[in-house]
Amino acid sequence: MKTYEIAVIPGDGIGGEVVPAALDVLNAAADVHGGLKWKFASFPWNCDYYMEHGKMMPDDGLTILQGFDAVFLGAVGDPSRVPDHVSLWGLLIKIRRSFEQSINIRPAKFFKGLASPLLNPKDFDLLVVRENSEGEYSEIGGRIHQGEDQIAMQSSVFTRKGTERAMRYAFELAKTRKGHVTSATKSNGIVHTMPFWDEVFRDVAADYPDIRNSSYHIDALSAFFVTRPQIFDVVVSSNLFGDILSDIGAAVMGSIGVAPAANINTNGKYPSMFEPVHGSAPDIQGRGIANPIGQIWTAKMMLDHFGEYEIAGKLLDAMELVTAQGIKTPDIGGSSSTTEVAAAICRELKRM
Ligand code: NAI
Ligand code: MG
Repeated sequence: MKTYEIAVIPGDGIGGEVVPAALDVLNAAADVHGGLKWKFASFPWNCDYYMEHGKMMPDDGLTILQGFDAVFLGAVGDPSRVPDHVSLWGLLIKIRRSFEQSINIRPAKFFKGLASPLLNPKDFDLLVVRENSEGEYSEIGGRIHQGEDQIAMQSSVFTRKGTERAMRYAFELAKTRKGHVTSATKSNGIVHTMPFWDEVFRDVAADYPDIRNSSYHIDALSAFFVTRPQIFDVVVSSNLFGDILSDIGAAVMGSIGVAPAANINTNGKYPSMFEPVHGSAPDIQGRGIANPIGQIWTAKMMLDHFGEYEIAGKLLDAMELVTAQGIKTPDIGGSSSTTEVAAAICRELKRM
């Protein structure tokens, strides 16, 4: 029996609704699997905690989290009480940075029972691997002068290590999927960093002769995410390009409420963190209608991360069976509640 120890941080808003729903599903998955067990430890670190203690997590919070196999997080943010830069930087971003979660993964697929805004959506199934620690989102730069003499400069930072790490991760993932990696570049317009990106991509691709590789400029690639997303498998990109591409991915899928994400630590020094793409959705908090699929799909990514591919695959199938039956929350055109959707997914999982 394999036991996974998970630090659970529901966070704010609907995080407190979709996380318990996803834990029910994870428990059902463990029952079905038979050989795995969860040990969940829940931490009440959120904006309530901040109102009481003046910080988003205790001073030894990171030390506590470090001992777990993974962090499973809902959402952070209660903008009417705590400014977003305080709450997000005090918890979510602090964990991502301190735990060297240098890769961000966001899948997008044609999801049965979900209305894609594409007129004729083909059966697409892709994964964006985004470099999550450097690139265009560096803090190198500054501003000088006033008035019409104002200058702002910001430097992109591409290290051989960071670039190669993201690309190798993408090629390894492609081995377990359709065997195709696409690079997002812009070497026709950005003359230093992007030709470097292309060089590293060629070097890494040479180590994976069995994996097909392609390269597109980011402008054309973005258009293809809309016009023919079915041609992609794994797409590897810099921090900025991946940020934008993964939002297009979520959009063509049909709703932010279903989009999952993972922040991966690749050096094994710290746990990885699994959190859906959406935020705390204060506008629907407390009504029991939050879509739990983003959080549950995130749980599926955690299973994949642990190498539990078979049960992870079953879980995704169970989710699609449920949406295809029309058991859906209002954001995707249904009238079911958060708990009804989660219960239906548990039921389908156990029936398989
Ligand atoms: P949001 O993602 O919370 O909500 C955007 C819209 O999508 C809202 O209309 C909301 O009702 C809807 N929505 C989101 N998730 C849903 C779900 N699971 N089911 C049904 N509908 C859903 O983004 P927003 O409103 O910009 O931010 C709210 C708070 O969340 C802010 O404090 C923000 O900083 C924070 N935030 C946190 C993130 C995180 O923890 N990773 C990510 C994005 C925002
Ligand atoms: Mg974004």
